[in-house]
Amino acid sequence: MKSSLLVFASALLSPVLVVAQSLEWAYPVQDNVMVPSDITADTVRTIPGSDRSYTQAEIDNHWAPPDWFPDDHAPFPDVVANGDGEYVRGCAACHLASGSGHPESSHLAGLPVEYFMRQMADFASGARIDRFWMNPIAEHISDADSREAAEYFAGLPPLDWIDVVEADTVPRTYTGDGRMHFVHPDGGTQELGMRIIETPNEPEFATARHPYAKFTAYVPVGSVARGELLATTGAGGTTVQCAICHGEGLRGLGEIPRIAGVSAMYTVRQLNDFKSGTRNGPASALMHATVVNLTPEDIVSLAAYLVSLDP
Ligand code: HEC
Ligand code: HEC
Repeated sequence: MKSSLLVFASALLSPVLVVAQSLEWAYPVQDNVMVPSDITADTVRTIPGSDRSYTQAEIDNHWAPPDWFPDDHAPFPDVVANGDGEYVRGCAACHLASGSGHPESSHLAGLPVEYFMRQMADFASGARIDRFWMNPIAEHISDADSREAAEYFAGLPPLDWIDVVEADTVPRTYTGDGRMHFVHPDGGTQELGMRIIETPNEPEFATARHPYAKFTAYVPVGSVARGELLATTGAGGTTVQCAICHGEGLRGLGEIPRIAGVSAMYTVRQLNDFKSGTRNGPASALMHATVVNLTPEDIVSLAAYLVSLDP
């Protein structure tokens, strides 16, 4: 009796579990054994074009992240620079002064204020789950600070910071500090399979939290064209044409966010989370028909197509 119940339960759960498991790579965790690095907490870092310098420990201080090019943007609101000194970390630590973010966090530049505020409310209520950071930050931030951060990032222009390469075999990578994929210093290659790997072009820029660090997204061969077909036609009811809601060029429409030119690993997590129900806020219902029939391959293809577009 017990075993047949278990079989029944796992049969019921399997569609969700299959999706969640096969896209687990989009939620990277740091490797247990770290690749040795010349950079220590005391190493003084500089980047070309900036007259500032910071130690690596200062760069990695979530409550006072670096501001390499202060003249490039409006003054940081306190919450973007320093958070609240406790639960709320300075937003620029992970999302960068430019709002580009990294593949393991998210872009914020140019997001509509009302969309941004809704995400903060969803993280705070638990309707949207981020396995790593955002739920405690959103639980503790004040509405006034959220709004100031939202207005700061809404005023930043989206940047084109990701090159796209279709490939079967890609450089060997490891998942280092900050859960980021880096090309392995010892060389070597790996089969990409039905995955996406995003890695910084100059690792030393990414580890310095350079606001304009460029990345390369390795995506499966044929995935961009396959994603374009899904996104622009719905592929016979598999999904819904994205532009109906996300606007021309998928650059956003009213309160609906831009999805063009954003990190592909981020997009994979979002489509998977909408589908599995871990992103379940009030407005997520509008994404239901889009995601309900998607296979992992469809999700990878859509993410590859979106990252190939101009932001
Ligand atoms: C320590 C890292 C970290 C810090 C600091 C951080 N975030 Fe995030 N944030 C993340 C991660 C990771 C995600 C992506 C979650 C996911 O993949 O679903 C995210 C996502 C978001 C999103 C959703 C974006 C979208 O397109 O839906 C918003 C909004 C956001 N963060 C706001 C903030 C604000 C405001 C602050 C500062 C008070 C902040 N974050 C500080 C890590 C961070
Ligand atoms: C019927 C309207 C509608 C359609 C069609 C639609 N979307 Fe969305 N999408 C939304 C809304 C609304 C949100 C914001 C949900 C929220 O606030 O949580 C969203 C959010 C998203 C996000 C998360 C963005 C972020 O910054 O976190 C992604 C990714 C996305 N959509 C991809 C797509 C793709 C790919 C397609 C086409 C295959 C598509 N959407 C079609 C309405 C739609």
